[in-house]
Amino acid sequence: MANIVIVGMQWGDEGKGKVVDLLTEYADVVVRFQGGNNAGHTVVVGQETIILHLVPSGALYRGKTCVIGNGVVVDPQVLLQEIDELRKRGHFLDDRQLLVSEDAHLIMPYHRRIDVARERMKGEGKIGTTGRGIGPAYEDKVAREGIRFGDLGEEKVFREKLGAILPVKNHYLDTCLKDQGFDLEAVFQEYRGYGERLKKFAGNVSLFINGQIRQGRQILFEGAQGTHLDVDHGTYPFVTSSNTVSGGACTGAGVGPTRITEVIGVSKAYTTRVGGGPFPTELNDAVGEKIRERGREFGATTGRPRRCGWLDIPLLRDSIRLNGLTGIALTKMDVLGEFDTIRICTAYQHRGRRIEEVPSQVQVLKECEPVYEEHPGWKAELRNARSFRDLPRQARHYVRRIEELTGTRVTLVSVGEKREETILRRNPFQRRPRRS
Ligand code: IMP
Repeated sequence: MANIVIVGMQWGDEGKGKVVDLLTEYADVVVRFQGGNNAGHTVVVGQETIILHLVPSGALYRGKTCVIGNGVVVDPQVLLQEIDELRKRGHFLDDRQLLVSEDAHLIMPYHRRIDVARERMKGEGKIGTTGRGIGPAYEDKVAREGIRFGDLGEEKVFREKLGAILPVKNHYLDTCLKDQGFDLEAVFQEYRGYGERLKKFAGNVSLFINGQIRQGRQILFEGAQGTHLDVDHGTYPFVTSSNTVSGGACTGAGVGPTRITEVIGVSKAYTTRVGGGPFPTELNDAVGEKIRERGREFGATTGRPRRCGWLDIPLLRDSIRLNGLTGIALTKMDVLGEFDTIRICTAYQHRGRRIEEVPSQVQVLKECEPVYEEHPGWKAELRNARSFRDLPRQARHYVRRIEELTGTRVTLVSVGEKREETILRRNPFQRRPRRS
């Protein structure tokens, strides 16, 4: 029996959706534990491409239960849209396939407006948020002013909570952000409609998951964003507002750490970032442009072009430590198939000093210069490789070098966007983990 957490090792968009989708075959329950619809997981099944923002990637399999944990912030409008869209395409037809924690906090219309208005006010210093209201919703949770998913189905409670908070938000929007407030009755009616359709999905997620574990079922915890966007451990303040590291699966789903058997980190064969913040290996040249083009590096949620650069080993080393990783899933290897040489950043240089780890001060990281080693490219199409042996020698060397530099085994290599375009060297649901 295995309960596995999958997290991003970089700044999000590592290809977690594909890895989760692939491993879901072996899981009974798939759980989202943090973030909200700022995430965008692209999954390609046959001729279909589906982008999910909130519903766990397991929705594409019949008979798997999808769970949205207490650590997630839920925009009910988006949740309903996704359910409707999936159903239109013949997925997710059974209501029992979805359970949403009563304790998950709701994203309200004022959260979205505050998010956008604040970014506008910050100008050049903006974080580059997705504008989905994620940060303001988490702020209300911690300030104990949030409204939760369980409140949606309780009209009286919902009205009382909304009545208490809305005047405060309207005042803030009006006086501080110079933006428009909301009408109480209109918001109430809108959310009452969502409540009617969604209350059947509300329940006690911790109780459910722990019960499933006791019965020997396998659980897959699906991380969103990436380790370096973690609110505590990321490149603060250019981060998201939740704990994206593996420990977040415990707090965000009500499961003790002793129940987790393995943690897999997903990393691209290079690095990307959307939004602001330091990025030592960023390439503002033709090579970066080529990676963006070949890798189709445009945000799944906002459509923004992603910043692209070479693989950054200090980022990965940090991720291995922060998440307790037992393996790496290396994605988008095929994208690097056109380069004569490929670089790996093995450390940083800061004011004459060599640094092996990511400095916690963002202003120090901004000044870091990457130290590169150069490897010959493989200049070949990899999409048909199905075992490690099928890869060209230079590509195998690249993977082995990453293993050497990180001290962690690469357990999966993705060579294309389709499910079958994958080399699964070890299935974490089927064999014992090797500690890194
Ligand atoms: P927020 O999560 O919308 O508040 O945005 C905060 C930062 O996290 C911004 O730099 C976003 O671009 C980034 N971010 C949030 N979600 C994702 C994601 O799923 N992939 C990549 N970056 C993300």
